[in-house]
Amino acid sequence: MQHLMSPLDFSVEELDKLLTLANDIEHNPQKYAHACEGKKLATCFYEASTRTRLSFEAAMLNLGGSVLGFSSADSSSASKGESVSDTIRVISCYADICAMRHPKEGAPLVASQRSSIPVINAGDGGHQHPTQTLTDLLTIRSLKGRLDNLTIGLCGDLKFGRTVHSLIHALIRYPHIRFVLISPEELRVPSYIREDVLEKNYIPFQEVERLEDAMSELDILYMTRVQRERFFNEDDYVRMKDFYILNRKKMSLAKEDMIVMHPLPRVNEISVEVDDDPRAAYFKQAQYGVYVRMALILTLLEVNVC
Ligand code: NCD
Repeated sequence: MQHLMSPLDFSVEELDKLLTLANDIEHNPQKYAHACEGKKLATCFYEASTRTRLSFEAAMLNLGGSVLGFSSADSSSASKGESVSDTIRVISCYADICAMRHPKEGAPLVASQRSSIPVINAGDGGHQHPTQTLTDLLTIRSLKGRLDNLTIGLCGDLKFGRTVHSLIHALIRYPHIRFVLISPEELRVPSYIREDVLEKNYIPFQEVERLEDAMSELDILYMTRVQRERFFNEDDYVRMKDFYILNRKKMSLAKEDMIVMHPLPRVNEISVEVDDDPRAAYFKQAQYGVYVRMALILTLLEVNVC
């Protein structure tokens, strides 16, 4: 039985297979419409979510399966003090697969160790968000046609943004990847990523503060929101929250074929005037999230569709 805690749980070859399956699902949805009939997905979300939870549920419904779950810690027995280990043992009796989001780093991993069904980490604190990374990889591969030879600008809250952490881990396995890390000094990527992931693997990267300075060299601009819920104090959040606002003027500095990605939700960091720019890919990205989660559910449940 396989769980998904980090994007590195899949080899590059396995990822390639999964992304190819997601492409086939996109183009032949009917072929998969009954693939998970009789199977149930539990979504156990101890932290807020729109896209991740609903795209998981849409994915299972598109496969002909059913869904059950809870969308906040308050509406589960966590509010009575139940541990995730106990909760997952019980959920294992009710469902065939579980997607879990938790504010504490490592909680889905603890759950997976006591689970008799596959557990998917749907975001654990400021740590990892592997299914967003699968979504991002599918988006990049579909829109840019490759996952290698790319200069990727990661912009915003690189300290607490778990989507960025997972994406860096995943992308360094492809040849000729270069990062431009665009953040205020206080929100730089954690040193464990800079030193143990980037430097250790000789991945070229540059850290800059001004988005304008990076714009012209990027193939992909990955914007992120400042993660308010992970700040210790509200004043720091207020000071940081509008540090970057991508607008039409800044877009005019970018390559014609650059794409703008964002895991969403956006707050102020991308002005709505950018939405009509053909390079804005963030709503398409949300759609790719359904296809890739369908592929993931099929893969973890070992369902083969011929
Ligand atoms: C992200 C998350 O939850 O980390 N959202 C998502 O799943 N698409 C990004 C965010 O909340 O900023």
